[in-house]
Amino acid sequence: MVTAFSLLRTPKIFFGPDRIRLLPDLLKPVGTNLLIITGSRSHLGNWHVVEVLDILGKEGFTLCYDKIGSEPSPDDVDRIVNTIRNENIDAVISIGGGSVIDAGKAVSAMLPVEGSVRDYLEGVGTASHPGIRKFFIAVPTTSGTGSEATANAVLSETGENGFKRSLRHENFVPDIAIVDPRLVVNCPPHITAASGMDAFTQLLESYLSDKSGKLTDTLSLEGMHNIHTHLYKAYKLGEDLEARSHVSYAALLSGITLANAGLGLVHGFASAIGGMISIPHGIICGKLMGSVNRNNIRKIIQDKSNDRALEKYAALGNMLSSVPGKDPAWYALYVADFIEELTEKLSIPHLGTYGLQLKDLEKIVATVSHKSNPVQFSTDELMDMLRACI
Ligand SMILES: [Fe+2]
Repeated sequence: MVTAFSLLRTPKIFFGPDRIRLLPDLLKPVGTNLLIITGSRSHLGNWHVVEVLDILGKEGFTLCYDKIGSEPSPDDVDRIVNTIRNENIDAVISIGGGSVIDAGKAVSAMLPVEGSVRDYLEGVGTASHPGIRKFFIAVPTTSGTGSEATANAVLSETGENGFKRSLRHENFVPDIAIVDPRLVVNCPPHITAASGMDAFTQLLESYLSDKSGKLTDTLSLEGMHNIHTHLYKAYKLGEDLEARSHVSYAALLSGITLANAGLGLVHGFASAIGGMISIPHGIICGKLMGSVNRNNIRKIIQDKSNDRALEKYAALGNMLSSVPGKDPAWYALYVADFIEELTEKLSIPHLGTYGLQLKDLEKIVATVSHKSNPVQFSTDELMDMLRACI
């Protein structure tokens, strides 16, 4: 029997090369006053985007611009909202990586309400957002966070009292996601690697989560198959549109699966580290993924503690290896080998490169959440995993 499940709403999705050209027609029923948020390099370096913005200008749209250089902070969002609040914006369009999409999602949610975005952040503020927002379109130019399909915007502040928290409401899922792999071909290899490993982590963690079901498992496995066959190709040859399309597809699926099934320990680490030190989210995921999954698998096999997780790791290992006739432990360990090999090939740097030090570990581990990880670890085990990634 197919077990009961529910699926949250997704954006209206337009996927494929040149889908960016649909933007003017999609915006005509919405209004003419547009706020375009980009990254520091995303639209100037991409003539497909420049061309479409040019068309919007010629067709009578009024374009206001803003930029986000790195993972957005509450102050970034407040600054943009306060600059633009009196401009009667009809729609917010984010064209960029996950940070740009998260920033646009938060700005679209904050334009109709008073106060600072801090007031509405999970675990930071106490106000409850009414869920009203401006029309929002997400146009990713990297393949990773899946933010184009999720209901939350991640904002972070680093430092002594730092945090990495979400602004979340089911109405914050973008109205439209335009996933055009042509927009990703300019993405440099190190960002392709880190963001691709973020997508891979999201797919695997949602697949292992106890909130997963038949539908999300199908999407997660499909996404991981696409990562397996095409992430390294996209990293080695950025202009390979075929490879880019498969990785963009995997990233989109990761947004849908994480929104519905949740995440695991790697993202628990990422939240704790991200509030303390500025390290790109995808680097944290890519670096920790091997260590966390190796330990998950080791413990599941040794303690015979979670048959469901072993079965799932084994099904994934079977799909990745295409080797017949092995036992579940062999297939599960194949997954750990594959992740470590891919991390190595993608040259994901050590976290110490970004300033993470041994003295920081205790504080980080004290705030780590296991989320929906299939295994629980002791403080010492968490310390060992993190130490291995410095
Ligand atoms: Fe992530």
